[in-house]
Amino acid sequence: MNKTLEGVPIVSRQALAGLCLGFIALSTPVFAQCDPGEILIRFSHVTAETGHPKGEAALLLQTRVNEEMDGRACMEVYPRSQLFNDDDVLPAMLRGEVEMAAPSLSKFGAYTPQLQVFDLPFLFEDILAVEEFQNSDAGQELKESMVDDGLLGLEFWHNGMKQLSANVPLVDPADADGLKFRVQRSAVLMAQIEALGGEPFPMAFSAVFDALQSGDVDGQANTWSNIYTQGFHTVQDGVTETNHGIVDYLVVTSVEWWEGLQPDIREDLAQILLEVTHERNRFAFELGELNKIRVRQEGATIRILDDNEREAWVSALAPVYDQFRDEIGADLIQAAQAAEGGI
Ligand code: LMR
Repeated sequence: MNKTLEGVPIVSRQALAGLCLGFIALSTPVFAQCDPGEILIRFSHVTAETGHPKGEAALLLQTRVNEEMDGRACMEVYPRSQLFNDDDVLPAMLRGEVEMAAPSLSKFGAYTPQLQVFDLPFLFEDILAVEEFQNSDAGQELKESMVDDGLLGLEFWHNGMKQLSANVPLVDPADADGLKFRVQRSAVLMAQIEALGGEPFPMAFSAVFDALQSGDVDGQANTWSNIYTQGFHTVQDGVTETNHGIVDYLVVTSVEWWEGLQPDIREDLAQILLEVTHERNRFAFELGELNKIRVRQEGATIRILDDNEREAWVSALAPVYDQFRDEIGADLIQAAQAAEGGI
């Protein structure tokens, strides 16, 4: 049986997302019914399903699996934290409650210190450098860094570079002093906020908009695609284009489920995933730039740092490297630093 998912228009974002969440939570899955005998592959993620790099990649994966593996496998994608948020999805995967997910690379700290390399500040010049590192031997080995814990990385998916926003203008690092920032649950990201004199608040992605709007936190760091599709810019003073870090993803599954698949199913699924990865990763940067334009068109102030201003942020965050070099591994950090990307 072929399945389709009606996309929610991206213009609706926060308000409609809230309504839809209520509706969908009562009625999921809204789009797919597996035929008897098909292997069910539940794919859980937390972002918007359209107009967003991860959402679009997951939709394409669902379409291709359901067309090309019809009768053998059936994929159901659950976006916008409908099924699990990123803090819960990995334990749920190990319990067999979900088969695939693509958490941000910042969400694996409980399983491996090595993936924390992606959280180091100003490590990558651009998303091409990220791509280059991920495709190096050192990068590819990271996919298997959690096998002992029962998790297997399959492919890296791109989102983009991170920008910083708050309810006050951020130009100098001192502007962040004393502010509360939402961060993903990552020791390296928390240390970055502390290095700026701010207070880090780890929080699920689904809770960020309300926390910013209510003032429970003052600011956040995320990509243009996440900022726009969640509407963060509508409740912030502006967004400073710091490009100080990345949000990228690891498509992950459980070792037990993956190895339990019949070889032909596993091979076909891996091949489709690889092709979807190549197809969608090419568009992540462009989608981010489009979402940046939309943020600007909605009237938000975008602050661009000059070279001196950017250097001040680089210096302020540099001590974080000393804090995590031993834990992450100096060799791995050097391998990431060697990736030149689009320079
Ligand atoms: C976040 O929590 O900010 C991101 O990891 C969300 C995502 O999946 O892009």
